[in-house]
Amino acid sequence: MADFIFETARLGLRRFRASDGEDFAEILTDEETSYFEPYDTFTYENALKEAEKLSGDEHFFAVILKETGKLVGKIYFEDKKFFGTWEIGYSFNRKYWGNGYALEAVKGVINYAFSEMNVHRIYAEADVLNTRSIKLLERAGLRKEGVFLKSAHFQNDSNGEPIWGDFAAYAILKDEYNSKN
Ligand SMILES: CC(C)(COP(=O)(O)OP(=O)(O)OC[C@H]1O[C@@H](n2cnc3c(N)ncnc32)[C@H](O)[C@@H]1OP(=O)(O)O)[C@@H](O)C(=O)NCCC(=O)NCCS
Repeated sequence: MADFIFETARLGLRRFRASDGEDFAEILTDEETSYFEPYDTFTYENALKEAEKLSGDEHFFAVILKETGKLVGKIYFEDKKFFGTWEIGYSFNRKYWGNGYALEAVKGVINYAFSEMNVHRIYAEADVLNTRSIKLLERAGLRKEGVFLKSAHFQNDSNGEPIWGDFAAYAILKDEYNSKN
């Protein structure tokens, strides 16, 4: 039973299930994938527990390839409880990068949020060095609002000192989306 909340051409988006652990572990245990994320690379066992923890959690979408049933991505989408602003974040299985799946899923969430949910503004932040994420946000139609210099650090250098990141803020308003779609 697929239980998709909505579908795009190639993908179905649904809540996580405890049984997603194995596919989810391919994402969470990969060092390159977690480099720009606000958490450490998971062990396999902790990744299985994370699937259980996120199961049914309404802040996340599991992104499924309809053709094979493979879980290829995670999308975070949360009400910031601030005048209708929701934050979006994502992380996809590195073996599946470069196919436009993340873009298709993010565009799907934007469309779903503005047509089916009471969302006024969608917001995201990405390290300016995270080229793939920045390209994705721009391709999905989000507008750059500014850059917060040295505003967070998710990695340390070899001396254990924080590597500060400059984070670009992006957003799209419902009005902007509706005027283009
Ligand atoms: C950010 C992330 C989701 C982007 O994944 P991605 O696969 O590069 O992104 P997209 O889905 O937009 O795919 C774009 C690429 O697919 C290619 N592509 C192939 N077929 C395509 C299709 N049918 N439609 C669209 N693009 C397609 C595009 O040409 C593009 O290639 P390019 O970037 O070399 O120009 C991924 O790199 C990731 O999980 N990173 C780690 C986690 C992370 O950093 N998260 C963000 C923290 S802010």
